[in-house]
Amino acid sequence: MRTLITGGAGFLGVALANRLAAEGHAVYVLDDLTAGDRDRLDPRVLFTRGDVRDVPRLWSLLAGVQVVYHLAARVSVPESILYPVDYNAVNTGGTVSVMSAARDAGVRRVVFTSSGTIYGEQTTQPIVEGAQPRPSNPYAVSKLAAEHYVRAIGDLYRIETVILRIFNAYGPGQAVPPAHPPVIPHFVRQITAGGSVVLHGNPPGGQTRDFVHVDDVVEALCRAGATGGVTGATLNIGSGVETSLADLIAAIERATGREAQVLASPEQSGGVARMCADIRAARTALDWSPSVALADGLAGLAALARGGR
Ligand SMILES: NC(=O)c1ccc[n+]([C@@H]2O[C@H](COP(=O)([O-])OP(=O)(O)OC[C@H]3O[C@@H](n4cnc5c(N)ncnc54)[C@H](O)[C@@H]3O)[C@@H](O)[C@H]2O)c1
Repeated sequence: MRTLITGGAGFLGVALANRLAAEGHAVYVLDDLTAGDRDRLDPRVLFTRGDVRDVPRLWSLLAGVQVVYHLAARVSVPESILYPVDYNAVNTGGTVSVMSAARDAGVRRVVFTSSGTIYGEQTTQPIVEGAQPRPSNPYAVSKLAAEHYVRAIGDLYRIETVILRIFNAYGPGQAVPPAHPPVIPHFVRQITAGGSVVLHGNPPGGQTRDFVHVDDVVEALCRAGATGGVTGATLNIGSGVETSLADLIAAIERATGREAQVLASPEQSGGVARMCADIRAARTALDWSPSVALADGLAGLAALARGGR
């Protein structure tokens, strides 16, 4: 199979590209490297540096491509609050470019990585795909708008589309930017180095998230690209386990053998209170289930941190 992965030099993209290349597929990656790292790609992956909004570039890359995995996006919620114009342009506009180029090139299927953040604050947990979205920041709005473009343009031009709403992915290769780092690599790094971590809210660390390992996300992406009969599906991809940030700290302490220096702040962090995916639809549609328990995933990260990576 010939595939194009947009955003394929990023955290999830590299893991997907390397897996598909190892399976013998022809894998093309388009990434502008605003966040990605092309050096982590398997040498068999054909890398092009460029902007996902560049339709002529997409045309040239899409010749003969059957499946597009559209991952390219700006991914920071706090940054999206500062730069909503950019987030709308790249995440929503970039998706329109991908879908229109896919239409022109006769691509068979587009798999789009949406996000659990589109649900916002939900009273009922775990969250089912039919829940009314309540996106509460520009990043979430941009992903939800992109979902609509994927589905509308796909339906108009008979492109098969699969939308995966990924919850909090973690695992090896996740970048830790100095501003607004993702919670797991940040906590692991701080606790391993003997630094402090801040838990917000009352009780501190009561906020919950659904943490899903990168290997399980990649498995779901591969199945979404290859499984028959899933066209038109929108599927939650999470672990199905709701974990509070306080429990996450305790799990990282066990994995690293280090005690966390916790600073409690009564202020709310600004994010939604609870997030847990109902993953029954993905289990059925993709014959998929998460296989990496949080304790095991954290043990792997702790081993890497001990090795200085
Ligand atoms: N990691 C998660 O927990 C998570 C959760 C939900 C959804 N997602 C979605 O999965 C996808 C991949 O996320 P990730 O965690 O790997 O993030 P990432 O930032 O590591 O990867 C995104 C990639 O897109 C590239 N990119 C950004 N703007 C671009 C542009 N204009 N043109 C071309 N490339 C561009 C970046 O350089 C980067 O390599 C994103 O669409 C994200 O919204 C991720």
